[in-house]
Amino acid sequence: MLTLEDVHVSYGQLPAVRGVSLEVPSGGVLAVIGANGAGKSTLLKAIAGQLPLRSGRILLDGADISGLPAHVRVRRGVALVPEGRRLFKSLTVEENLLTALASRRTGPWDLEAVYELLPIVAERRDRIAGDLSGGEAQATAIARALVTNPLVLLLDEVSLGLAPVVVGQIYAGLPAIRSQGTAVLLVEQDVRQATSASPDVHCLLQGRTSLAGRDLPLDEITDAYFGA
Ligand SMILES: Nc1ncnc2c1ncn2[C@@H]1O[C@H](COP(=O)(O)OP(=O)(O)OP(=O)(O)O)[C@@H](O)[C@H]1O
Ligand SMILES: [Mg+2]
Repeated sequence: MLTLEDVHVSYGQLPAVRGVSLEVPSGGVLAVIGANGAGKSTLLKAIAGQLPLRSGRILLDGADISGLPAHVRVRRGVALVPEGRRLFKSLTVEENLLTALASRRTGPWDLEAVYELLPIVAERRDRIAGDLSGGEAQATAIARALVTNPLVLLLDEVSLGLAPVVVGQIYAGLPAIRSQGTAVLLVEQDVRQATSASPDVHCLLQGRTSLAGRDLPLDEITDAYFGA
């Protein structure tokens, strides 16, 4: 579903992602892990079209989307849940979800379906987004991405700063999302969280792939993570 071929991304002269290739099949999941500054968010932003590629290609369902603007990629089926969630803080939860409907593709996820998947969002639908707890805001951000019916869902550190029980609730929704054919690419700094969510991991170290594979031993991942 999603293929990256030798992707390079820079900020001016500063390379941040240096030759990353990966694949996530339809209904599959891949965890991208790495320390602070490894290039994880840069990679997700490049896939979403918020940063240009310096070189390489991004394919969605076989089609090259590398040159498309971000809003077109959403309509083609790429949804990003960004670091820090970026909700419209003065709007209600439901109004936040409604803002995404303009880019909605046909598919199983409508308001009713995401409310069923994420009851915490349903309970808070009339709350002002700025008044939500971290977990509620994160669940709302995921719901907002989901109502676009993405082929690829990009999750940037959804567990960061949340209580373990809330993280569990959020990750519990992934199987239902994947069962509709959506490919999930998730970014985590927390290796245990990442490996419990996905048997396939892709480790970045200073913008480069330091390790990639399935069911890798934890010590091997830790070495790749810290560059030992
Ligand atoms: N807007 C920017 N301008 C210049 N350099 C940037 C910018 N954003 C990120 N960088 C640099 O690019 C590199 C990768 O940053 P990125 O945010 O992708 O890392 P990350 O893996 O998401 O880290 P974190 O776990 O802290 O979120 C870092 O060296 C960072 O300092
Ligand atoms: Mg980041």
